[in-house]
Amino acid sequence: MKPRPTLEERARERLIFALDVGSVREAGQLVRALHGSVGMFKVGKQLFMRSGPRIIQYVRERGGEVFLDLKFHDIPQTVARASVEATRLGVAMFNVHASGSTAMMEETVRQVRRVCRSEHLRRPRILAVTVLTSLSNDDLATIGVRHGLEDQVVRLAALAEITGMDGVVASPKEVKAIRRACGPRFAIVTPGIRRPQDDVGDQERVTGPAEAIEQGADYIVVGRPIRDARDPKAEAARIVSEITAALGAARHRRPTDKGRERGPR
Ligand code: C5P
Repeated sequence: MKPRPTLEERARERLIFALDVGSVREAGQLVRALHGSVGMFKVGKQLFMRSGPRIIQYVRERGGEVFLDLKFHDIPQTVARASVEATRLGVAMFNVHASGSTAMMEETVRQVRRVCRSEHLRRPRILAVTVLTSLSNDDLATIGVRHGLEDQVVRLAALAEITGMDGVVASPKEVKAIRRACGPRFAIVTPGIRRPQDDVGDQERVTGPAEAIEQGADYIVVGRPIRDARDPKAEAARIVSEITAALGAARHRRPTDKGRERGPR
């Protein structure tokens, strides 16, 4: 039997490093430096367009896990078939836009489940993107969405949950409302993480790693604070220790809350 993971191992699992670089060489250096120090590597559009699927293979061969952040949005068959290919690449997570419709999410979940059964593949977590954090209330009104931003986020998260999706990517500010609407087993992944000493960059509303976990996030995505650090591995270790402390404090506060205490699902 596998030994129970320590609190620190569970904290590390929750840290997703955004591999936002423009060359395969840089990506390789960061993967070699950080595998074992972060829980997952997020591969986005830029790196995927540059490297293609081999970056996923590269991370997987070193024992790392991949969150493929391509945010699929198209007609149901197209998204479902792209999702089947993401599943075949062995990613641990990938995402689609919830606004692509419940039919699109249902078809995606159905086809991914089917290919996992027929080809004996591990089932990735399928996440929904609700409202991009770059959009404001005014942007939503311009495209004809009359609900306020938070209402729209919660509405799309609830639809994702009903259609069998495993979770959402959301701003730390939205975590509590989503948790209330979608329950304890729905995975919430939050970018926009900064500590007081970090450069904020282009992130508008930021939250610290411990605070995001305390609010109920299952995973946090951190890019530039680790990538641009003099010693990325040491920086990742510092963030993991902050998450460890937050998990320890949460366990202390809620000793009977077994579902949440188990951490990422
Ligand atoms: O460098 P930084 O820590 O800001 O990286 C955050 C990562 O999360 C980037 O890859 C960014 O594209 C992504 N992201 C985000 N906000 C969202 C969705 C994704 O910052 N709403």
